[in-house]
Amino acid sequence: MADTVGTLIAGNWKMNGLTASLSEVETLKNALSGADARECDVALCLPATLIGKAVDVADGVFSMGGQDCHTLVSGAHTGDISAEMLKDLGAIYVIVGHSERRADHHEEDSVVASKANAAIRAGLVPIICVGETENERKFGTALSVVEMQLAASVPDAAQEAPFVIAYEPVWAIGTGLTPTLDDIAEMHKSIRDNLVGRFGDKGAKVPVLYGGSMKPSNAAEILAIDHVNGGLVGGASLKADDFIEIIKAV
Ligand code: PGA
Repeated sequence: MADTVGTLIAGNWKMNGLTASLSEVETLKNALSGADARECDVALCLPATLIGKAVDVADGVFSMGGQDCHTLVSGAHTGDISAEMLKDLGAIYVIVGHSERRADHHEEDSVVASKANAAIRAGLVPIICVGETENERKFGTALSVVEMQLAASVPDAAQEAPFVIAYEPVWAIGTGLTPTLDDIAEMHKSIRDNLVGRFGDKGAKVPVLYGGSMKPSNAAEILAIDHVNGGLVGGASLKADDFIEIIKAV
């Protein structure tokens, strides 16, 4: 990992967690409160229902994030949540463009860019997700697909605001499968070159996370790859003990 780039380990609980799950937040807080427990930023992107309570439980020891936001500040959009509302709950981050949102809610790159803009407008840090499907990997188009996603999902406003990229191969999410270390290295180098090409010095400092079946047993080798500046962790973030092992791997 390059020295100049911050490192972030972010959990993504997806649609999991009830009030009782706040005990995991508490366990994580206690583990991270100890001296020199970590060398990276830590966040949990929780269901919106838990963010406010989790912010209280974590007491500033680590950050909370949302998993999606609407493009607008407020209005007649039943069931949606705005970036401003997440900020109001104490969130610091919001995931936008996760492949599950792209698939389940037909979110195109242009929508993802609007959501990233909304996050920036609200003062949140967007974690903008990109990643190829299994067929795109098989047919050798993974690099070009991700390049197109970056071009269309990362808004120009990102030049002036903090943001994070998460590379998540769709076929690696929740499957136990991961790309080879060489393939991850190739993709992260390509993303870095792309960000530098578009954003100059700023692009050299944007954290680029890997996501997709990251777990305690593979975290250290993935996090050691050049231009991998942390992880977006789904299943293995639900249990604090597993998540802590991944944080320690940094
Ligand atoms: P996973 O999910 O770690 O369970 O594969 C990652 C993600 O979807 O962010």
